[in-house]
Amino acid sequence: MATKRLFAGLLAGVFASGIAGAAEPGGVPKIGLEERLGAVMQDAAAMQAAIKAGRKVTTFCANCHGEGGNSGKPDVPNLAGQNTAYLLEQVKKFADGRRRNEFMQGLIKALSDEEKVNAVVYFSAQEVKPHASSNPALANHGKELFFKICQRCHGEQGRGNEKIPRIAGQQPEYLTLSLKRYRDGSGERMDPFMAANTKNLKDADISALVAFVSGMK
Ligand code: HEC
Ligand code: HEC
Repeated sequence: MATKRLFAGLLAGVFASGIAGAAEPGGVPKIGLEERLGAVMQDAAAMQAAIKAGRKVTTFCANCHGEGGNSGKPDVPNLAGQNTAYLLEQVKKFADGRRRNEFMQGLIKALSDEEKVNAVVYFSAQEVKPHASSNPALANHGKELFFKICQRCHGEQGRGNEKIPRIAGQQPEYLTLSLKRYRDGSGERMDPFMAANTKNLKDADISALVAFVSGMK
């Protein structure tokens, strides 16, 4: 399969270019990813340094996630403006297999803890470029569903909070795929809240929600 080959090629590139690897220096006590992120977020200078380092770490990511994390591909998620704790949680889920995507799982394993945190801080700090909704009539039904079911967690503007992802302006095919995965319990994405809140959605409801949410600013 051509995509498989592309992924394998890109991965080989990561190892060769040396973003991967950088093991923690010996003797330094290992701290958890959350503590590492927390420490950076509380210190303005550390945050600026992380954004700068993160820009370098993520040049490779831009191949798919776009410049500054604004994806140009409908099936690849935007990372710009995404909430830090959510991004870090997804990185951990890829690493321990609670979230399945062959390419992302392989790639995340190749990053050091510091690189993971820098990438998360960098993407979160990038400006989101809004999109127009593709289908306003469909979006009206989606809007009703959104305010009935989704708004209480994802917020009136779809921007979430530190633990709940921003979904406003997210890429449409990626949204559709993710919602169906939660609903169907197919194993790629596991989350009890999202499973409960998608289980009664029909495919047509998902199309409507996606038309609305992908057009939110
Ligand atoms: C070959 C394309 C490709 C590259 C390169 C790539 N990604 Fe991804 N990434 C994806 C796809 C596709 C998904 C969606 C996976 C899924 O849900 O099945 C994804 C998902 C993610 C997610 C979860 C986003 C969310 O909204 O839940 C994060 C975080 C992420 N990638 C970070 C990175 C970082 C950091 C890099 C660079 C070190 C990177 N990606 C490089 C294709 C790529
Ligand atoms: C009870 C709280 C709650 C409700 C209600 C809820 N969500 Fe979520 N949502 C979450 C949490 C928590 C996650 C992160 C799950 C994970 O780690 O995979 C999430 C993840 C998502 C994602 C994945 C985002 C990404 O970047 O990959 C999408 C899309 C989403 N929700 C859409 C919706 C929609 C649409 C609705 C309404 C039908 C909804 N959610 C209702 C809590 C909720």
